[in-house]
Amino acid sequence: MAVIIDGKAVSDRIKSEIALENKKLMDDIGVMPGLAVIIVGNDSASKIYVSNKIKACEKVGFYSEKIQLSEKISQKELVARIEELNNRVDIDGILVQLPLPKHISEKVVLGKIDPRKDVDCFSPFNVGRITINDYRFLPCTPAGVMELLKETGVELAGKNCVVIGRSNIVGKPMAMMLINESATVTVCHSKTVNLPEITSKADILISAVGKPKFVTADMVKDGAIVIDVGINHDENGKLCGDVDFNAVEPKAGYITPVPGGVGPMTIAMLMKNTIMAAKANAILNVKSAGKTKAAKSKSDK
Ligand code: GUN
Repeated sequence: MAVIIDGKAVSDRIKSEIALENKKLMDDIGVMPGLAVIIVGNDSASKIYVSNKIKACEKVGFYSEKIQLSEKISQKELVARIEELNNRVDIDGILVQLPLPKHISEKVVLGKIDPRKDVDCFSPFNVGRITINDYRFLPCTPAGVMELLKETGVELAGKNCVVIGRSNIVGKPMAMMLINESATVTVCHSKTVNLPEITSKADILISAVGKPKFVTADMVKDGAIVIDVGINHDENGKLCGDVDFNAVEPKAGYITPVPGGVGPMTIAMLMKNTIMAAKANAILNVKSAGKTKAAKSKSDK
């Protein structure tokens, strides 16, 4: 029988800590973190994700702005909206909900977000900083996984970790973050040969493939930590992860459920990145106000 890692409880605890930190920030320096969330088009899953992000902002006491844009918006117009937000002092974090319509390049759009406001940590600059282990932000889902691994109390250094999935959002940054903790990491994907042989050697198995019940009991080592990043629907339309939970749970040491595992952590980490951005931007705004004042008093002379 595995220990079930309760992502909802951990996420609630982190959000309560952030709410307290936020109150202190308001009381001490009058700063209220602001998050802008852009959604393009009418994808129903994206709408739910965005509404959950806005609700979380309300819960911790942040200002938030949902920017709903037409599916037909041009890339140029979208970039112009991002540049406007880059220049607003009341907005500390900018998030563009993915996926975007096919005529818009994710790479171009994400690259336009000011790295200081990139609370999703998707811009090339911030992704590069994870690679050199010198970062401000971490991407929300893999950062949430790291928090859940911390909850187990298991030391990561030297552990054999297998990540299934090589997406830019989860698989690749996940691997980097585990390497930064001195784990030995293997990244598997759709072209991996003999996947069960590799996964069944993992002390820590993280699945982010988006296929219901993809990870079966024969793929899991006895006592392994199994983290399920998938959000899928089974043949009956019921929400489920990538892991065949009922079959794997008796074999695992620790396991995350779906729902209630990694999902709630993503939003908690977004709140964490937003308050961090607000603190850093507040210092920057004070500094640039000082420079403007100094420049003005020079020109007055
Ligand atoms: N689409 C699916 N997951 C995410 C996420 O974490 N951030 C954004 N911006 N879009 C997503």
